[in-house]
Amino acid sequence: MTAKRRILVTSALPYANGPIHLGYLLEAVQTDVWVRFQRLRGHECHYVCADDTHGTPIMLKAQAEGISPEALIGAVHAEHRRDLADMLISLDNFGSTHSDETRAACNRAYLALRERGHIEKRVIRQAYDATAKMFLPDRYVKGNCPNCGAADQYGDSCEVCGATYSPSDLKNPLSVVSGTPPVERDSEHYFFRLSGFESRLKEWMAGGAVQRSVAHKLEEWFAQGLKDWDISRDAPYFGFEIPDAPGKFFYVWFDAPIGYLGSFAQLCAERKLAFDDFLSPDSRTELHHFIGKDILYFHALFWPAVLEGAGMRRPTGVHAHGFVTINGQKMSKSRGTFITARRYLEHFPAEYLRYYFAAKLGPGIDDLDFNLDEFATRLNSDVVGKLVNIASRCAGFIARTGGTLADALPEPALFAEFSAAGDTIGAAYEQRDYAGAIREIMALADRANQYIDQHKPWLIAKREDGAAEVRGVCTLGLNLFRSLMIFLKPVLPDMAAKAERFFREAPWNWQDAARPLLSQTIGAYEPLASRLDPAAVAQLVESPAPPAPPAAAKPAAKPAAASSPAATATATPATAAAAATPISIDQFASVDLRIARILAAERVEGADKLLKLRVDLGELGERQIFAGIRAAYEPATLVGRLTVVVANLAPRKMRFGVSEGMVLAAGPGGADVFLLSPDAGAAPGMRVK
Ligand code: MSP
Ligand code: ZN
Repeated sequence: MTAKRRILVTSALPYANGPIHLGYLLEAVQTDVWVRFQRLRGHECHYVCADDTHGTPIMLKAQAEGISPEALIGAVHAEHRRDLADMLISLDNFGSTHSDETRAACNRAYLALRERGHIEKRVIRQAYDATAKMFLPDRYVKGNCPNCGAADQYGDSCEVCGATYSPSDLKNPLSVVSGTPPVERDSEHYFFRLSGFESRLKEWMAGGAVQRSVAHKLEEWFAQGLKDWDISRDAPYFGFEIPDAPGKFFYVWFDAPIGYLGSFAQLCAERKLAFDDFLSPDSRTELHHFIGKDILYFHALFWPAVLEGAGMRRPTGVHAHGFVTINGQKMSKSRGTFITARRYLEHFPAEYLRYYFAAKLGPGIDDLDFNLDEFATRLNSDVVGKLVNIASRCAGFIARTGGTLADALPEPALFAEFSAAGDTIGAAYEQRDYAGAIREIMALADRANQYIDQHKPWLIAKREDGAAEVRGVCTLGLNLFRSLMIFLKPVLPDMAAKAERFFREAPWNWQDAARPLLSQTIGAYEPLASRLDPAAVAQLVESPAPPAPPAAAKPAAKPAAASSPAATATATPATAAAAATPISIDQFASVDLRIARILAAERVEGADKLLKLRVDLGELGERQIFAGIRAAYEPATLVGRLTVVVANLAPRKMRFGVSEGMVLAAGPGGADVFLLSPDAGAAPGMRVK
């Protein structure tokens, strides 16, 4: 066994303006398997991530929704955190770039860079929207392509002919923000002098910090010459203001990787770790970043240069992966193949996706296709048919012969073969060749099943003198299963935990696969995984959106919704039964259900069940609603979230004020009330039908 390593690991920071989706989950799973593997081997391994919260798109999105950027990123943060936890991603900290720690780390890095002469001021000319009073990023100017004339093209490149250019080259340019023609304006910007780092970056790369295919890519970039990097943006900008530069903000891509450090600083404070052990230039610890291949430039050029220039250590490894496609095509909202983490989790256990990704994920940057049919076949044949099958074929016989494992193995050589394979499997995990590790593990699972087939415990059990022999065979069978579950623990942590309980053992580490478990009284066996129905898998992809309802489905003047005493409709068992009374489609259509954003929530003096909500209904404006959800929700946690509201309920005068609508929620009441929330993409004012 090698000495104990100290390792800090990150996944790229998801943008805080959209949901976690299958593509990001590939990255999270790839990182998490590696992290869990390191911990299983006994190393000290910290895993941090954060939401990437700054920049123009998030600022404008918040504006469009009429909320503060803080409220927007706050709501998304809670969703991201929950999605990742439910995918069993074992993050030690999931922070935000909009944190005191990230701000401090940004300032520290910037001032160190400035001190060492790596920052330079330059005046640049840029498109400016005089109506919206803001400079426009390239993607916020649209017009006719200067090359082919195609209409409605972005300011950086043409999607029709592929030409690249700058916004000032566009014909008839218009600002996407205000719709008016932009003007040109000068402004002073701050540049990071990347060009000075070429030789040090080359040396870093030669040390094996990136995959071979990535090194080729970097060579191309070196050949093109490294350009200095504009790290500032003008106000208005949602981000951190640059020290000594009023009205200038750090560009989102400057503070994003520093968000790794901000999140780690939070963890250090919480767990009493020494930040400098991991970041000082002479650090003996390891720093690994897992990223998608699209953000290599930032991680393999800018980031190591910024770290070095600011007097910190460089990454040990930057590990890139390819892109997830669905049935061979790019994920797409319009094709219904933009599968969010939530949607996946509503249908299937996290571990099925973890296994599928791991089984297909090599160490390179090839794309990975999520094929719906293959997903079901793979799970059913490998996990259910091979792996779990070993345990379910043996467990019953042990239970019938007293519930205790034999005190010796009938064929120690077979067990030794399994434990010896641990080295190859471990090496594959270490190299991020999970597909290789799983291939090896499944070949062993085949061997274990063959062994059981050959010895047929079900026949031996029929012999009067068969008890000891059956116990021997099944003790070996279960020990082979145990070794495989130890090897799979980084991928299938919950199943492994169940198996640990079944064997009545403390949490396994990697070395536990080296010695068999004998003479142990084990627990009752419960099935560890069940078959996937291929038809159910098809539901992961949405059917195309239904056509708009006919004009007759207009809300009637008089709402048909029954009012309940509290202004919250909850589906109690009683009302669920009452729902059996059929209503006509017109009656249903007369209820105007809308997506609402909760802008404010507060307790009401003298009303112990109610919260007073201020909600935004988009085109219908803002409303005040009293809802009987006080026992279930802390008011502050509601601010910013979306929910569903009956918008055409006649206003009711209550003791504390007028309630102008009703919030929909499920559950029996009291603390067990659950507000509805739409999938990401829904916006205030949208009709629910
Ligand atoms: N916020 C930046 C990263 C900043 S890191 C300091 C960003 N965010 S992202 O949300 O667009 O992407 C986050 C990660 O998910 C990136 O590593 C990206 O490559 C990865 N993926 C996004 N879509 C993906 C697929 N379809 N497939 C696999 N990974 C993909 O970039
Ligand atoms: Zn063009």
